[in-house]
Amino acid sequence: MNLINIFGKVGGKMEITELSEKDIKAILKTNQYIIKNINFQNNSINGSTIKNKIKYFFKIMSSERCKQEIEGYSSIKAEYPVPRLVEYIECTDTGILIYEYVNAIKNNQGLLHDYILKCEAKNTYTSDVVKKIFQYYDKSLKKICRVNSFPMEEFYKKRINTRLLNWYKDWEINEYKIIINETININLKEIIGTLENFFEMPKTYEAFLSQGDPNTVNIGIKPIFMDLTTAGYNYIEAEIAAFMWSELIADAYFCPKYHAKSYKYHEQILCLYDNYKPNLKYSINRDKKTIKIDGNLKISKIRKKILNEYLRIFMKNNIVVGEELKYYIVMRILCIFNIREMEEIDTIYSLFCVGMFLKLEAKGKNILSNIELMIENYSEDVKIGHGETV
Ligand SMILES: Nc1ncnc2c1ncn2[C@@H]1O[C@H](COP(=O)(O)OP(=O)(O)O)[C@@H](O)[C@H]1O
Ligand SMILES: [Mg+2]
Repeated sequence: MNLINIFGKVGGKMEITELSEKDIKAILKTNQYIIKNINFQNNSINGSTIKNKIKYFFKIMSSERCKQEIEGYSSIKAEYPVPRLVEYIECTDTGILIYEYVNAIKNNQGLLHDYILKCEAKNTYTSDVVKKIFQYYDKSLKKICRVNSFPMEEFYKKRINTRLLNWYKDWEINEYKIIINETININLKEIIGTLENFFEMPKTYEAFLSQGDPNTVNIGIKPIFMDLTTAGYNYIEAEIAAFMWSELIADAYFCPKYHAKSYKYHEQILCLYDNYKPNLKYSINRDKKTIKIDGNLKISKIRKKILNEYLRIFMKNNIVVGEELKYYIVMRILCIFNIREMEEIDTIYSLFCVGMFLKLEAKGKNILSNIELMIENYSEDVKIGHGETV
């Protein structure tokens, strides 16, 4: 990587959201980069750029976030296949990371996300592709260490005040008794209190080296791992919960529905996510303050198989995960999107998922061995296109 290249402000205030396309072009041009494509997303502005006829991937964030990503990159680059970081350009409080372009990533191709959709469309699946990805977890799980904090805390502990308490403050549903499939009773106020206490407790964590934001658009089937802001030694449970929620449910349904921008060049899902809409029956009784929900999780067979392949890696390495995994999963359900602001059926589905995952028990102390069975028993298959189940 080149040395940090600092130059003056271009235009007005250099807040990431206030950088105009013109400003970005000017900054990159000063460094001999010509922009080919640019995407304005929530967490970053990114795209492709050319310098000396070579294509690169650029990513613009606050300089603080960029430094976090450089740290993440440095910590995992020897163990995981990652695109090479070529240059870092800093302009006051904004940074531009320039990466080698992963040419295998094309329109609706190259990401784990694209691969899963292709398998679902053809209704075929062989485990070789995902095994090649998961082999790196297998290798890293051989080197476990204890840590007091970890980069992925950003998605958990650090979202207690900023999202969990903030988003769900004074929500009338907090008081409700939620009855799922006539057997599971939950109350959101109690759950929020439990999460608040749980994440407040100082602990030490069993950690392994991981990419840290394992959603299916951050992983390429080459294999290659991208988006390294939270890469490093991460708590095993935090990593498993994030992968589980993304791969099983969020990346097929909630993310494309509520954050379509993340699917730039991988837009096929935008006309498919409706197939993953749950078939739930529910009733809301505002006088009795109860919600009754009946139904199943909506997950394709292929997504279940991939999850099982993933969990097997941890079990093979004798990783024992306790019931606290549930709290990490619930944080993902409640703190990626504000479920209060969703379409009603999706608010209901989110509450349903909270109940289903909280029901998981660590029989024989290892919760991992129960996940497969629970998901199999409480999910229905997805019908794609002409009614074929996948
Ligand atoms: N080096 C790269 N070459 C090609 N595509 C990339 C590269 N790095 C990331 N991408 C693609 O761009 C998307 C956005 O980049 P990412 O680093 O994940 O930014 P964000 O933090 O906004 O999610 C990724 O999901 C991935 O599909
Ligand atoms: Mg990303």
